[in-house]
Amino acid sequence: MPQPSTIAIDGTAASGKSTISQLLAQRLGYLYFDTGVTYRAVTWAALDRGIPIADEAAVTHLAETLRIQVLPSTCGDGRQYTVLADGQDVTWAIRRPQVDHGVSPVSAYPGVRQALKQQQRSVGEAGRVVMAGRDIGTVIMPDADLKIFLDAQPEVRAQRRYEELRDRGQPAEYDVIRQDMLRRDRIDSSRAAAPLQAAPDAVIVDTSDLDIEGVLGRLLALVQDHDP
Ligand code: DC
Repeated sequence: MPQPSTIAIDGTAASGKSTISQLLAQRLGYLYFDTGVTYRAVTWAALDRGIPIADEAAVTHLAETLRIQVLPSTCGDGRQYTVLADGQDVTWAIRRPQVDHGVSPVSAYPGVRQALKQQQRSVGEAGRVVMAGRDIGTVIMPDADLKIFLDAQPEVRAQRRYEELRDRGQPAEYDVIRQDMLRRDRIDSSRAAAPLQAAPDAVIVDTSDLDIEGVLGRLLALVQDHDP
């Protein structure tokens, strides 16, 4: 049975998407592409340049003109990859709480999604890719060979994000993170343009009670059992 070549992994914030997608890609020898970084880079650039997040036209123009590059990791500081925005290394800056806060409204703008869509699609077209996001199985790669939707209870997800920030030495408050995460889920799921939802043919995996190895095992089994 041929192995799936295009794998779409969607899911809620901090459901384990990034970690798992990267591990899965590594295991299969595939490219890993975390599409969330493209929305984060636009949000970071808007904040950096003093463009109000609420100014849809200006933020859309920024998404159309900003040069975003995702490159293999260039240094050993724990990063999965290097993200450049107009040549500037923003790999860690795009993980700051201010970006967390602004990224959902930015990614709800149809013009922003349109601007980033083609760039994301062209990465998928080459195949042998694990692409992670919110609308990969529904919009970006609707013909993906295998679609997975990851979810976990909000408290578990907030705890994971809290530990992630704390481990990186960034300021973090559990309650603030939990509130912000619920707010993001709400905006991501209710927006008109490409809302967060599982594709009808996606396999839904709840990661609340699984550790990373457990989730990876489930996904590798899905890859093995794939029936084209
Ligand atoms: O996965 P993440 O937390 O880095 O995603 C950041 C934001 O970008 C998230 O709030 C929703 C949005 N996003 C999206 O709308 N579509 C994608 N394919 C990926 C991310």
